[in-house]
Amino acid sequence: MNKAEPTPKLPSIARALRQAVSFISPVILINDEPKGADQLTFPSENGMRMKYPNETIQLLFERSSCRSFLDKKIPKNVLSIVLEAGIHAPTAGNLQPYSIIEIQDLRSRRKLAEMCGQKFISEAPVLLLFCIDWHRNERWAELEVAPFTATSSFRHFWVSFQDVIICAQNICTAADSMGLGSVYIGTVIDFPAEILALFRMPESVFPVVMLCLGYPAKRPKPRNKLSIKTVVHKGRYSEMKDKQLLRAFNEKYRTEDSRNQTIPITLDKMKTIMNVCHETHGKEFAEKCKQRIEANGYINMAQYYFGLHYKADIMPTDNDEYIKLMERSGLKWFKKYVPKVETRTRSLKD
Ligand SMILES: Cc1cc2nc3c(=O)[nH]c(=O)nc-3n(C[C@H](O)[C@H](O)[C@H](O)COP(=O)(O)O)c2cc1C
Repeated sequence: MNKAEPTPKLPSIARALRQAVSFISPVILINDEPKGADQLTFPSENGMRMKYPNETIQLLFERSSCRSFLDKKIPKNVLSIVLEAGIHAPTAGNLQPYSIIEIQDLRSRRKLAEMCGQKFISEAPVLLLFCIDWHRNERWAELEVAPFTATSSFRHFWVSFQDVIICAQNICTAADSMGLGSVYIGTVIDFPAEILALFRMPESVFPVVMLCLGYPAKRPKPRNKLSIKTVVHKGRYSEMKDKQLLRAFNEKYRTEDSRNQTIPITLDKMKTIMNVCHETHGKEFAEKCKQRIEANGYINMAQYYFGLHYKADIMPTDNDEYIKLMERSGLKWFKKYVPKVETRTRSLKD
């Protein structure tokens, strides 16, 4: 086997037993561990190195999105295990209102790469397009003579969106455990009409997200995240003080040499960010943003994410288009529901 080729990891009984035992004592401090155990440890919040209690936790802590893939196919059996892990995910009412389009042919991969403006997409040997799918359930209900309103109910939109993502994340974790790398592609939702046509999706099927899968050419280091102190609220929601909140984000966007991550100012970026500020909050705000950038001497990460990456002016502009397109696809989740019975009653009275 090629050295760069990761060996699929399937849990042996011994490993499973070890995992079961280690679950009893979740995380162990290992100050006195022999050297070399470093790969099996992670830095804790208090700066101590902690030992992973099991391989699943290690996998989850060390995962990162992978955007460069080896030119190597995913064996059929590996892919089917990964997919099987997806359909074992929890799903509201066990209804599984989702479908996955498996895409391997180069033409479609290239098309999607071009459409999304992300070249690496075509280099991943397998793309999985996750869709909400009420079509199958609707047909089932019809065949079994059951009442059906899922395509008119916001509740059903909500649960099916959750279900499809939970399934996708099971697949991600399973893929990692089999030595594969993965990255979500959210940009597919910018082209819903094209995707619906390209993959011949019937009514009541709607794309949500895509996943690139393949053997990683390199595995990026895990990215910093907001800490559990920031995202977990004990018992009730607790608002952070401004200073605490800024410290939490600064810690997240801290570089390896302990500086804050920043974006250098360029004319182009300034122009874009000023435009976005102007469009969203007006002249005064744009001036305020400009002053902050000039005083700092850089574009900060919040300004980057909301002013340059996910541009605040453009992001909400298609809201009504999405709603219309969903309606055209038979999904009337955001419309007032008018039960058919009203018409029937009226016509009976008439
Ligand atoms: C819903 C969703 C959509 C995403 N879309 C893209 C995308 O279009 N392109 C991309 O390169 N990464 C995409 N990502 C990956 C994120 O950029 C990545 O998860 C994030 O930067 C955190 O990095 P990590 O996954 O390595 O922890 C997406 C992730 C999610 C969850």
